[in-house]
Amino acid sequence: MSSDLPTLASFVNDFTEEYRIKMENAVEKYFTDEYFDSLGGPLEMMKKQFASQAWREFYIGCLPPARQMTQIYELGDPYDRDRDLIVGLGEQIRDEVKHAKIYANLSEQVGVPCDLATWTADNYDRLVAKCRLATEWEKPQYIAAGFQVSTEIVAAETSRRMGEYVQDDYPEIAKTLFDITSDEGDHIHCGRLIVKRFATEDDFDFMHEIAEKKYNAALRILESL
Ligand SMILES: [Fe+2]
Ligand SMILES: [Fe+2]
Repeated sequence: MSSDLPTLASFVNDFTEEYRIKMENAVEKYFTDEYFDSLGGPLEMMKKQFASQAWREFYIGCLPPARQMTQIYELGDPYDRDRDLIVGLGEQIRDEVKHAKIYANLSEQVGVPCDLATWTADNYDRLVAKCRLATEWEKPQYIAAGFQVSTEIVAAETSRRMGEYVQDDYPEIAKTLFDITSDEGDHIHCGRLIVKRFATEDDFDFMHEIAEKKYNAALRILESL
């Protein structure tokens, strides 16, 4: 069944809004000042969070758009109709590499080595599980469902919350974290375009299923940080 544009547009709007609220609530619940205080204050929080955040920006940020680019190359029209998507995904990968590099540098700055080719953590299996749920789908709209139009908002919210927490003691770092938050809107926009161009009504239930699985994986990560 093919979808008409108004149906798809309202589906994407409702879907994105539902997960924006869910992810904001999840980050507000787990990334509280009390939780950060319990780690030992701003410096200890940064020592604990930044390397993991760098890994997530790189792996969970880059692998899904990299796969979507090749899928759109195969299924779509990469040199004409879908050029905007190819360019948007390339820009997303550039941003996520930049975010990963910023977090890795900040991590080194607070004394925690962060080589993304070798870094690991106690919750590494959960990080990998979450990355797989963002990446291992056969169609670009399915990857978007679990990522750009749903749980990707978590990246924006976590950097915002950490920035708010360190703002008084480390204003320069806080500014950098807020800059990262501001890039994320473009990625969500690109995901919305992908869904509008490739999804049909037959995909809607499966896309909800994917987003819900990924949302639960995101909660498990937030619980384990
Ligand atoms: Fe990012
Ligand atoms: Fe992003």
